[in-house]
Amino acid sequence: MTITRIVLLAAALALSGCGKPASTGSQELEAASRQLVPQDPEIAAIYARSCASCHTVAATRAPLTGDTAAWAPRMGKGMDVLVNSVVNGFGGMPPFGLCMDCDERQFEALIQFMANPGATP
Ligand code: HEC
Repeated sequence: MTITRIVLLAAALALSGCGKPASTGSQELEAASRQLVPQDPEIAAIYARSCASCHTVAATRAPLTGDTAAWAPRMGKGMDVLVNSVVNGFGGMPPFGLCMDCDERQFEALIQFMANPGATP
C-alpha cells in the first residue's frame, strides 16, 4: 500500500515538472541573453525598451535572446506568422510586444536578432 502511494507520488511529481520552464542551464542562457545587443542603433533602442524586458528574463517564459534551440521551432512557423504573433499578442506576450509604434520591418529585425544574434544587423 505505502509503496504504491510513493510510486504514485513520484509519478505525479515527475508529471508536474513538465509544465515548468526548462531549468537546466536557464540561468546561463539568461545571463548570456543580457550580453547581447543589436548592432543597428535604432533596433537596439527599441529592443532595450521593449523586447528585452521579457526576452532576457527566463521567468517570463519568453524564448530568450540567443537561445537558438528555443527559437528554432518558432522560426519554423515563418516570419509572417511570428510578426503576427507580436502584433496580436501571443500567450504571455502583450500586443506589439510593448512597442506600439514599431512597424513590420522593425519587428522582423528584432525577431531575427533574438533568434540568431550572431547573424543579424
Ligand atoms: C511582457 C513580456 C514580453 C515582451 C515585452 C515581449 N515579448 Fe515576445 N514573447 C513573450 C512571451 C512570454 C513569449 C512566449 C509566448 C508563448 O509561447 O506562449 C513570447 C514570444 C515571442 C515570439 C514567438 C511567437 C510565436 O508565434 O511563437 C516572438 C516572435 C516574440 N515574442 C517577439 C517579440 C518582440 C519582437 C518583442 C519586442 C518588440 C517582444 N517579443 C516583446 C513575452 C514578451
